[in-house]
Amino acid sequence: MAPPLIQATALRKDHRLGDAIVPALRGVTLTIEAGEFVAIMGPSGSGKSSLLHLLGLLDRPTAGGYRLAGRAVADLCPDNRAQIRAQGIGFIFQAFNLLGRNTAIENVELAMTYAGIPRTERRRRAETALTQIGLGERQHHWPGQLSGGEQQRVAIARVLAAGPRLILADEPTGALDTATGREIMALLQDMNRAGRTIVLVTHDPAVAAYAQRIVRMQDGRIVSDLPAAIDRGAMSMIPQAIACPETTAS
Ligand SMILES: Nc1ncnc2c1ncn2[C@@H]1O[C@H](COP(=O)(O)OP(=O)(O)OP(=O)(O)O)[C@@H](O)[C@H]1O
Ligand SMILES: [Mg+2]
Repeated sequence: MAPPLIQATALRKDHRLGDAIVPALRGVTLTIEAGEFVAIMGPSGSGKSSLLHLLGLLDRPTAGGYRLAGRAVADLCPDNRAQIRAQGIGFIFQAFNLLGRNTAIENVELAMTYAGIPRTERRRRAETALTQIGLGERQHHWPGQLSGGEQQRVAIARVLAAGPRLILADEPTGALDTATGREIMALLQDMNRAGRTIVLVTHDPAVAAYAQRIVRMQDGRIVSDLPAAIDRGAMSMIPQAIACPETTAS
């Protein structure tokens, strides 16, 4: 049997802030199989982005083990990590992270440059991906000429064209209105149905509802890890907050 795509063991991450050490992850053990769609939820500061950065090899753990598709990757040098990222991991962030001096199609092509895909193949795949997400007509526009939703679709086309096995998304709909956010989630869902593994950080239960599994974090630890349907049941056991009258001083 193939090893799990993600196998993180007792991951710890301390951020250094001047002289202070901020413990962001205090021992996270998490296994994700290829093809899963997992949402990571939890309060601000609970360590969600820190975990996603480790899973995406953007950062190194302070302690703990990480196997990606069976390969031990926690202690690889930056060049090796960059190579694995380029070939197998796609990122979608809240702030779109497009290069402002490159057109939509150039942004999509760039990710494939690092993966070593030849030029004509890059152009073909970029055009196909942009057309697929409905931006075929806007491919030569600069990011500044596109709406937030369109920029996020370019970021998705970038992932789609490069075709990574693993897609990591940190609040991908956080800067978008509800309807545009839904369009973005539908695109992510299509990618998952096509076999890609997705790990998504969100505060929004409507966004998490696209996932099959919900991992909840608190204070740098996983406090619950349940299939989405059961997680929803568990949450409904907690009484809804009662709306209180406004208490602002007049
Ligand atoms: N680069 C950094 N330097 C210092 N401290 C950091 C750094 N990045 C994160 N932290 C701290 O680590 C803890 C976890 O942060 P993290 O960004 O992982 O939380 P989060 O769950 O993603 O929060 P949010 O929902 O607000 O995005 C916080 O206390 C944060 O202040
Ligand atoms: Mg975060």
